[in-house]
Amino acid sequence: MRRILTSVACLLFLTGFAGTRLALAAGGGQQQAVTSQPKAAADSTDFVGQDTCATCHADVVQKFGNNPHSRLALEHAGKGVTCESCHGPGKAHVEGGGDVTKIRRFDKLSTKEIDETCLGCHAGTHPNFERSPHAKANVGCLDCHSVHASETPEHLLKAEQPKLCFQCHTDTKPAFDMPFHHPVNEGAVSCSDCHDVHGTFRNNNLRSTADQNMICTKCHAETRGPFVYEHAAVKAEGCTGCHSPHGSQNARMLNMPTINTLCNQCHSPVSAGTVHGMANASAEIAPCTSCHTYIHGSNMNQAFLR
Ligand code: HEC
Ligand code: HEC
Ligand code: HEC
Ligand code: HEC
Ligand code: HEC
Ligand code: HEC
Ligand code: HEC
Ligand code: HEC
Ligand code: HEC
Ligand code: HEC
Repeated sequence: MRRILTSVACLLFLTGFAGTRLALAAGGGQQQAVTSQPKAAADSTDFVGQDTCATCHADVVQKFGNNPHSRLALEHAGKGVTCESCHGPGKAHVEGGGDVTKIRRFDKLSTKEIDETCLGCHAGTHPNFERSPHAKANVGCLDCHSVHASETPEHLLKAEQPKLCFQCHTDTKPAFDMPFHHPVNEGAVSCSDCHDVHGTFRNNNLRSTADQNMICTKCHAETRGPFVYEHAAVKAEGCTGCHSPHGSQNARMLNMPTINTLCNQCHSPVSAGTVHGMANASAEIAPCTSCHTYIHGSNMNQAFLR
């Protein structure tokens, strides 16, 4: 799943600090965001290289060797990301004996400036971030990620899921404590299996499958179809027409207390004591699905009996 950086601008930038002034100048648009601070135009001679940073920030540099920015970048893009890729050229900072006003400090930047810096290289993998509900609510990269002090080595997250998400989404927590729920707290399913927090083309940041269906059928393949006899409700309403995706008080995470009340929202074949006019003492307690077993669709029977 590792992605090679597709942004040409970014690759140019990577070569840029290795010594080519032209590359920096050609970076353009988003790339300038990466180099816009400190304000002075970046000359390749303004870069001092990571070894110089190490003379004063030995601990940070040493730890960084294990950071995906070092490790993965070397493996996959051929060039490491170094201190100055993010903090900007360090010459003035070094000559000032560590003058903090001459180096890019992330705690002094706005959310938008930070996001632009990161997206200078990551826009290829997260092209929809700026129009995501998170970005619109001013939630940025560093609300969820930390470069030097992440709690998870993978993905550099500030905290594990779901803890990370529950810090802000307290409202969604109770659903996962209900008697029937997706095993998110148990660690078998992640919030990010269904949501891409970096933005998608669906409401609620929902991921979709290759055929543009809601993500559910990736794991519940038996419900996917296509079937000879489709249940129109599945196609029209989607899975959440009948299921609560986070959790529910009802078995099978149904959004109605009994199967029959669920079905009767759209069908009315049951009156007291009968099913489809057939006298049947157990009609009111027999769930519709005791006969209509293949409720998500069938290849054998139009009424989903088998
Ligand atoms: C001559 C020693 C020296 C060198 C070389 C040096 N720094 Fe610093 N740096 C300091 C000192 C001193 C501080 C201020 C004290 C502190 O916060 O650690 C500082 C602060 C910083 C800060 C701000 C820390 C904060 O708390 O906000 C960053 C970021 C930083 N340096 C990055 C770099 C990078 C990147 C390089 C290499 C390009 C580098 N430094 C090279 C001495 C140095
Ligand atoms: C991918 C971008 C990126 C790279 C590469 C990077 N940093 Fe940072 N740095 C950050 C961010 C973001 C912060 C703010 C705190 C955080 O997220 O960990 C930061 C914070 C710092 C700080 C402030 C102290 C702190 O931990 O909060 C220092 C010092 C620092 N970086 C030095 C370095 C040095 C030295 C290198 C090279 C080994 C380096 N950084 C490489 C993004 C980066
Ligand atoms: C609301 C929290 C949140 C925000 C905001 C966020 N991320 Fe993430 N990010 C995650 C989580 C959770 C994962 C791991 C699951 C996944 O891949 O979706 C992740 C994974 C990643 C990955 C590695 C996997 C991949 O798809 O490439 C990168 C790179 C990344 N984020 C960059 C960013 C950047 C850049 C920003 C800001 C523009 C950002 N993220 C904003 C939570 C967040
Ligand atoms: C100079 C380009 C560059 C900049 C700027 C940059 N990154 Fe990265 N980032 C990379 C590369 C290269 C990798 C490693 C290869 C990969 O996974 O694509 C990486 C990896 C990551 C990963 C881990 C991916 C994984 O699979 O575990 C996260 C998370 C991430 N970056 C977030 C950020 C954040 C947040 C910022 C801004 C503070 C940022 N990056 C700035 C180039 C950059
Ligand atoms: C720093 C706080 C914060 C963190 C951490 C956070 N979110 Fe959010 N999230 C928000 C805000 C604010 C919004 C936009 C307002 C809203 O709809 O609640 C939002 C929106 C969303 C939405 C879209 C809701 C809608 O109505 O469209 C989803 C889905 C979501 N977040 C999932 C997650 C997941 C999954 C995680 C963990 C990986 C996470 N969030 C982490 C603050 C956060
Ligand atoms: C099995 C897939 C799945 C998982 C796992 C999942 N979600 Fe959702 N989530 C959905 C769907 C589907 C919706 C849309 C609900 C709707 O349309 O009725 C949604 C809606 C949301 C919303 C919008 C407001 C709301 O509650 O309707 C937020 C916020 C949210 N999810 C956060 C989270 C967080 C945080 C986690 C992890 C703790 C998580 N989700 C795990 C599928 C999932
Ligand atoms: C990442 C994989 C994954 C995704 C995506 C996913 N599920 Fe699940 N689902 C599971 C797991 C694991 C269980 C728990 C199975 C168990 O406990 O036996 C489960 C349980 C269920 C159950 C209860 C099954 C039972 O036998 O009680 C329903 C209903 C369900 N999921 C519907 C959905 C819907 C609707 C979606 C899309 C919004 C979805 N799932 C997305 C993995 C997933
Ligand atoms: C028309 C309502 C309806 C729709 C739409 C629907 N389901 Fe169901 N689903 C049910 C009912 C009712 C049950 C319980 C069957 C039983 O217990 O006999 C169920 C059971 C399940 C189960 C438990 C295992 C099983 O097959 O019995 C899973 C998993 C599941 N549904 C996933 C999905 C997914 C994924 C979608 C979307 C592709 C979906 N459902 C759409 C009504 C629906
Ligand atoms: C959201 C509305 C909705 C819900 C809820 C729903 N259905 Fe349906 N169902 C439909 C629609 C629409 C059709 C297609 C009707 C048609 O073609 O005449 C259909 C078709 C059927 C058919 C096939 C009828 C035929 O002869 O083609 C059966 C059997 C059926 N549903 C049973 C159920 C059962 C059992 C439940 C409860 C688990 C249920 N439905 C829940 C909307 C729904
Ligand atoms: C005792 C078994 C049984 C139960 C329980 C049952 N059905 Fe049926 N259902 C059938 C049979 C048999 C057919 C006729 C199938 C055929 O014609 O091939 C049928 C047909 C249907 C049809 C097709 C149109 C029609 O009315 O003929 C729908 C819709 C339907 N059932 C919905 C339901 C709903 C909703 C429930 C629960 C409230 C339910 N059924 C309970 C056995 C049952």
